[in-house]
Amino acid sequence: MIEFRGVSKRFPDGTLAVEDFSLIIPPRKTTVFVGSSGCGKTTLLRMINRMVEPSGGAIEIDGRSILEENAVGLRRRIGYVLQSGGLMPHFTVLDNVATVPVLQGVKRAQARARALELLDTVGLDRGLAQRYPSQLSGGQQQRVGVARALAADPNILLMDEPFAAVDPIVRAELQTETQRLQRELDKTVVFVTHDIDEAFLLGDQVVILERGARIAQLGTPEEILANPANDFVRRFVGIDRGGRALRPVRTATGTVLVDGAGRAQGVLVEDGT
Ligand SMILES: Nc1ncnc2c1ncn2[C@@H]1O[C@H](COP(=O)(O)OP(=O)(O)O)[C@@H](O)[C@H]1O
Ligand SMILES: [Mg+2]
Repeated sequence: MIEFRGVSKRFPDGTLAVEDFSLIIPPRKTTVFVGSSGCGKTTLLRMINRMVEPSGGAIEIDGRSILEENAVGLRRRIGYVLQSGGLMPHFTVLDNVATVPVLQGVKRAQARARALELLDTVGLDRGLAQRYPSQLSGGQQQRVGVARALAADPNILLMDEPFAAVDPIVRAELQTETQRLQRELDKTVVFVTHDIDEAFLLGDQVVILERGARIAQLGTPEEILANPANDFVRRFVGIDRGGRALRPVRTATGTVLVDGAGRAQGVLVEDGT
């Protein structure tokens, strides 16, 4: 469990990116932070692994302040996937995945053997192991990024708009893979996106954010769709289409029809899960 208690972040230039943010992130579920660009999503995520230090409030992991552990150790035991993949260009795929375990003291041969298994886990052909990142497609690079984040076998996986830079078809594949991984690996995932459809598809818990990381609504996709808390949420869920066209919104359990004003108009399909 990750707990934010009254957390704020003011950057040195005076920008108040996060204002009095409190939230409990349950273990072994996917929590999605969703909101427009600049609302504070990345800042929230980076405070969990101390890439950004809060200006106020407290963050705990499993009941212990994250300040008790040194920042480097904390960062290595929490997986982190970035939008750009963040791979090291002059390292092979295999060495990109094996790097963190080696830094943690695992023998290189053992780390590479484990890295090969992780390529299987994320659905990459082992034949790609000796390539360099520039020799991979965007979707393949993102998969390597996920494999690398999993290499230290973290309990927590932070994902910051990991699929924003790939085309819609590859994005849909990666979203499906993420659902499969989540079922298989059972991690605490904190996922950031500006895409409400992606949030509803992947989130067990969805946190809709306004500027300053103020929580507009918190709930399961079904709760938010059935009962949007205010106009901001309705606009965001309806994506301000203006028109009345219904669009299908997929969640982990089924598909809901939503009108242009963000109101659920019925269940289209219920998955037999
Ligand atoms: N290092 C920084 N220095 C000053 N302002 C920053 C810094 N990083 C982010 N910000 C500002 O904080 C706000 C939230 O940024 P961010 O967390 O990156 O938003 P998001 O990820 O939701 O797009 C924005 O106004 C952004 O410009
Ligand atoms: Mg961001």
